[in-house]
Amino acid sequence: MTTSSSSWPNATGVVLLVSLLFITTSTVVPANNFYQDFDITWGDSLAKVLNNGELLILSLDKASGSGFQSKNEYLFGKFDMQLKLVPGNSAGTVTAYYLSSQGSTHDEIDFEFLGNLSGDPYIVHTNVYTQGKGNREQQFYLWFDPTADFHTYSVLWNPQTIIFYVDGTPIRVFKNSDSRGVPYPKNQPMRVYASLWNADDWATRGGLVKTDWTKAPFTATFRNFTANACTWSAGKSSCSISNSNSTQNSWLSQELDSSSQARLKWVQKNYMVYNYCTDTKRFPQGLPLECTLINS
Ligand SMILES: *[C@@H]1O[C@H](CO)[C@@H](O)[C@H](O)[C@H]1NC(C)=O
Ligand SMILES: *[C@@H]1O[C@H](CO)[C@@H](O)[C@H](O)[C@H]1NC(C)=O
Ligand SMILES: *[C@@H]1O[C@H](CO)[C@@H](O)[C@H](O)[C@H]1NC(C)=O
Repeated sequence: MTTSSSSWPNATGVVLLVSLLFITTSTVVPANNFYQDFDITWGDSLAKVLNNGELLILSLDKASGSGFQSKNEYLFGKFDMQLKLVPGNSAGTVTAYYLSSQGSTHDEIDFEFLGNLSGDPYIVHTNVYTQGKGNREQQFYLWFDPTADFHTYSVLWNPQTIIFYVDGTPIRVFKNSDSRGVPYPKNQPMRVYASLWNADDWATRGGLVKTDWTKAPFTATFRNFTANACTWSAGKSSCSISNSNSTQNSWLSQELDSSSQARLKWVQKNYMVYNYCTDTKRFPQGLPLECTLINS
């Protein structure tokens, strides 16, 4: 934005100008237009933007899935997306919504929604990759039907913590334990990605239930993407240290308060399906380090 101060003759104007500058230099102003924020990168016409950029529909048929990625790269942010998942018999399908950097030592923060037969529950599969290594799966059932309406799935990623949220309820936390030897994503900018694809070799009941292609095309709908985030461009962040304390950037220092902690416990107690941190059979040499640290 370019604004000449001479066009602001009075004190009100100056205050307005200062606050405008503050907002534009602090974080990305939340926007939700799919034309503006994303490129369709897979599946051609199987991915469609509708309603002037308000909605994005991904489809999967026997020939192909589809997907999109953010135009921006980000280094830290709070990312909200509303999704309405594949309805009916969605067995074998996976809808993914994730953040990822590039390369063999990439970082990644994943939400994957594993479809099921009509009436059987979806699984929300989550993972965190650091320096190219994942194997940190946690899976959950939801406390609602994710195909009946839109729900908000969020990733908070700041220097202290990564938190996965469903409708504002935290379901998973991955804390920065870098100082204790667990790599944490903090140097590599990431894009936001989403896709819908066939994974009937593993997704539903471990691959037992296959995709029913007579029900194709399968569709998942995305709405209201909001990034309160630091964009990364030409080696520079849009966020500067001096304003990291503003309310605009409150997400940058956000952690779980005690009521969120209680919600997290409720989800983990009642809806958690799988936790790599308790899978001693899988890790006979010992659980991953972050699992043995208190509060990880
Ligand atoms: C699908 O439904 C079955 C039976 O209720 C359940 O065991 C499984 O966890 C559900 N989800 C997936 C993705 O397989
Ligand atoms: C869009 O998302 C933002 C951020 O999550 C939220 O505050 C707002 O209520 C959402 N709008 C609608 C129409 O759901
Ligand atoms: C900065 O953050 C600290 C701690 O959260 C708070 O006490 C202080 O008022 C903040 N300062 C500004 C200018 O927002």
